[in-house]
Amino acid sequence: MKVAISSDHGGNRLRAEIRDLMDGMGIEYEDFGPRDDSSVDYPDYARPVAERVAAGEFDRGIVICGTGIGMSIAANKVKGIRCALCHDVFSAKATRGHNDSNVLAMGERVIGPGLAREIAQTWLEGEFEGGRHERRIEKITELEQ
Ligand code: RB5
Repeated sequence: MKVAISSDHGGNRLRAEIRDLMDGMGIEYEDFGPRDDSSVDYPDYARPVAERVAAGEFDRGIVICGTGIGMSIAANKVKGIRCALCHDVFSAKATRGHNDSNVLAMGERVIGPGLAREIAQTWLEGEFEGGRHERRIEKITELEQ
C-alpha cells in the first residue's frame, strides 16, 4: 500500500507521529509537507494528497490540521475522494468497512498522539466490506456527476 500524507502547521507534530507509525508498519508513503512550522493554508496541502489519491498514484491519503475539519472539507472537494474525519477507533474501523474511505483526516489539537496512532493503524488495516455498502458508494459517486 502507498500512502500520501500532509498537514498544515497545526498538524506538523501529529504528521511526524503518523510517519513514525507507518515506518513501524512497513508502509510506503510520500510526505507532501509542509517542511517547517510557518503558517500555511490547509487547502494547499489537502489538494496534492487528494488529487494523487484520486488519480490512483496512491492507495490512500492521510491529512492532518488543527481540527481535521478544514483538511477533510478540502479533500472531499476532489472527485473520487471519500475523506473521513475520525477521532475514535470505532469510526476509523467503520468508515473503512462501510464507506471505503480513501483519505483519513485527524486534528492534532483534538486528540493525543497515542489515540491518533491507534486510529490511523485501525484505518490503514481496515478493509472495505463491499456488499450493500458497494451500492451506497455508487450513489455517492453519482452525486459527483
Ligand atoms: C489553523 O489555525 C487551523 O485553522 C487549521 O489547522 C484547521 O484546524 C482548520 O480546519
